[in-house]
Amino acid sequence: MYGMINRGLQEMVLAHHGETVWQSICEKAGAKDTIFVRMDTYPDSLTYNMVGAARAVLGAPVEELMRGFGKFWISYASKEGYGPLLDEAGDTLFEMLENLDDLHFRLGHVFPLYGTQKGFDKMMPPQFTVTDKTANRVLVHYRSKRDGLAPMVVGLIEGLAEHCGATVKVTQVAPKSAGADHDSLEVEIL
Ligand code: HEM
Repeated sequence: MYGMINRGLQEMVLAHHGETVWQSICEKAGAKDTIFVRMDTYPDSLTYNMVGAARAVLGAPVEELMRGFGKFWISYASKEGYGPLLDEAGDTLFEMLENLDDLHFRLGHVFPLYGTQKGFDKMMPPQFTVTDKTANRVLVHYRSKRDGLAPMVVGLIEGLAEHCGATVKVTQVAPKSAGADHDSLEVEIL
């Protein structure tokens, strides 16, 4: 994963728990003294280890952490200069949800989609489709080569809604972890 993801995790822990806790997480994840460079790439296993270490150090369930991180990510990405990209993705939450692939495709110009010298550093963007749209409800289908990230998507959609001034209820209706072909999430505007 691109360093920006690990960097986001770092910013979230620092903002809520401070430097000492962050250092404990890094140590537990075997990433002591690792500096996360936004545009550099790191093995996915390191990111998963960091989340596991955060769970152990903070004593919070992984799903809760991932959801919190998803929500944090939207304000973090906006602060890092990606706000205009988000705004260009649509005028409403549902429009943005329909344009998530386009948003990540555009990011491919910043985070190359092609591997470089290290082998593990190809950007693997998620894939989203939207179906069953009504005035206040949609079904979001999330497909990924990675596993276990659906709780983060719940938080990402909540953060995106907040960014648009909306309040939503996001429910995982068909989890991949329970054998579904992909994760499906129902998004309802309250
Ligand atoms: C401007 C805001 C955003 C930026 C800068 C951004 C950037 C990125 C980057 C750099 C990755 C790493 C890909 C890799 O290293 O393989 C990623 C992954 C991901 N993004 Fe975004 N993203 C943004 C918004 C969103 C939103 C709004 C959603 C969903 C509602 C989303 C869902 C995801 C997911 C689920 C992944 C994990 C990849 C996977 O499933 O395999 N992102 N994003």
